[in-house]
Amino acid sequence: MRMIPIAALLVAAGLCGAVAQETSVAPTINQTFKSADLDVEGWATRFTGESREAFHARMDVLKALALKPGDTVADVGAGTGLYTRLFAQAVGPKGKVYATDIAPQFLAYIAQNAARDGLKNVETVQGGDRSTNLPPASVDVVFHSDVYHHFEFPAAMNADIRRALKADGRLYVLELAKTGGQTGHVRAPREEVIAEIEKTGFRLVEQVNVPGLRENYLLHFRKS
Ligand SMILES: C[S@@+](CC[C@H](N)C(=O)[O-])C[C@H]1O[C@@H](n2cnc3c(N)ncnc32)[C@H](O)[C@@H]1O
Repeated sequence: MRMIPIAALLVAAGLCGAVAQETSVAPTINQTFKSADLDVEGWATRFTGESREAFHARMDVLKALALKPGDTVADVGAGTGLYTRLFAQAVGPKGKVYATDIAPQFLAYIAQNAARDGLKNVETVQGGDRSTNLPPASVDVVFHSDVYHHFEFPAAMNADIRRALKADGRLYVLELAKTGGQTGHVRAPREEVIAEIEKTGFRLVEQVNVPGLRENYLLHFRKS
């Protein structure tokens, strides 16, 4: 019989406690995205504005992820599918892209566009505030862009992302640096984001050097 080390059990027990007790760290942050009147076309235009770095630097970010044909990737908090589309082309017909979001209207928009563009490897998954609802140990890469500060329950989401990743899976977090001004709504500075994610069973591999990023940073984690 395979024995699980006591230390691993204690970490897991501590994590379960932290996740179960977590209260929302930003109760109003997703109000717009949860609205029945969500203006999907309006958000699609905003998310793909040239002044938005996550859009402008998208090809540099894509290259940094080094996706391979056949990979299974999850775009968590996919919004209107800016990265979902790029990932679907990169992993090809033998690969798969799960697009998750808490807003069903965004997922319908992504599904409609994927069908229009013949991207049969895109599957939308309705996410919850505390769960991606992805199958366990199913994805090679989890990516989220401009989403971390939208997680109301970051410990639960991080733990759930860990659950969805394969043992050797990679997590990439593209997040706005908290510099004040326009980024006032960003909850935590980079060091805190790293500490929170590491606390849920990940280790930082590196901050990836992406040429087009000034206002955002890209972090690469693996399971610890
Ligand atoms: C600022 S948008 C970014 C959209 C997209 N990733 C992009 O960069 O264009 C944040 C997205 O995170 C989604 N979101 C917030 N909490 C989430 C959660 N727990 N799980 C999945 N998506 C979530 C929102 O609905 C919204 O679509």
